Amino acid sequence: MELAVQTIELTKKYGSFTAVDKVSLSIRKGEVFGLLGPNGAGKTTTILMLLGLTEPTSGEVRVLGYDPVREPISVKRVVGYLPENVDFYEDLTACENLFYMAGLNGIPVEGRDKKISQVLEMVGLLNSQNALVGTFSKGMRQRLGIAAVLLKDPKLVILDEPTNGIDPEGIEKILSLIRSLAKDLNVTFLLCSHMLYQVQRVCDRVGIMYRSSLVASGTVEEVGKTILGEKKGIIKFRPEEGVGLRQEALNGLDGLSEVRPLGGHFVAHFEEDKLALIMRGLLDRGFVPFEVGGKDYSLEEIYLRYFQGV
Ligand SMILES: Nc1ncnc2c1ncn2[C@@H]1O[C@H](COP(=O)(O)OP(=O)(O)OP(=O)(O)O)[C@@H](O)[C@H]1O
Ligand SMILES: [Mg+2]
Repeated sequence: MELAVQTIELTKKYGSFTAVDKVSLSIRKGEVFGLLGPNGAGKTTTILMLLGLTEPTSGEVRVLGYDPVREPISVKRVVGYLPENVDFYEDLTACENLFYMAGLNGIPVEGRDKKISQVLEMVGLLNSQNALVGTFSKGMRQRLGIAAVLLKDPKLVILDEPTNGIDPEGIEKILSLIRSLAKDLNVTFLLCSHMLYQVQRVCDRVGIMYRSSLVASGTVEEVGKTILGEKKGIIKFRPEEGVGLRQEALNGLDGLSEVRPLGGHFVAHFEEDKLALIMRGLLDRGFVPFEVGGKDYSLEEIYLRYFQGV
């Protein structure tokens, strides 16, 4: 299997603080990979090392076969990067902004107009090509940023927090755009985000970063199983009407673990072979189970464990 990105024990220290700690990551060619984790987990620092924009303290990186430390220019040629906050000239049109960026990317003048129309079409902004960027919504700016990245026909596209600050409709557009571009252009996408629920939907595989380390990677289901353990599920239950949350009431109930209050109910792990006993035990103690297992349970577990409070 061919890898677009591989890191081996990649580490970045700032003084005595380790921002990225021995991260070993594999991203396959052609997939949409989500590097997901709460704020401060080390996602952006990892990306900067892939791009050759910051030097690793130790460890190895390969991006499309190149070493970003020694061959940053080769990496830049084949990788499109959209940082978290993109700046455009507000008083220029979408088209003019891209014309300027095409120049920065060394795209020859004669082919520029055609290329610009192509990428604007791809991101659904052809009708707004002559509008000033100052009038664009955050979602439109993000799509324009993606257009700018596509100008140089990258093989790998890295987007840092592509859905930040965008309204739900705009997010939907961005995510389906990424999905369709990945399919049509056969480009590898690396998305970094702290928005687990949103972004995982368009990812073939994800890596979960938490406190500088990569804690798991694979499909959401695989990652969930790694974290949860094979034979456990998730159960949700709430106290009967008019009764407060009383975790002590669960004492002595076998087969439940990691009970956590969440909003007005509880979430816990359960051992699958004890489910009948657990259900009876909960009802006897005045709790109403309202969800067991469920296909999203692994995602929920990842969220509870690493993203809660983000
Ligand atoms: N240049 C720097 N000097 C010192 N510390 C830094 C530097 N850059 C990042 N850090 C620290 O490294 C940690 C990881 O930061 P990073 O930006 O990689 O996180 P992140 O996962 O991208 O978070 P976010 O979701 O907020 O973008 C943070 O604690 C941050 O304060
Ligand atoms: Mg970041």
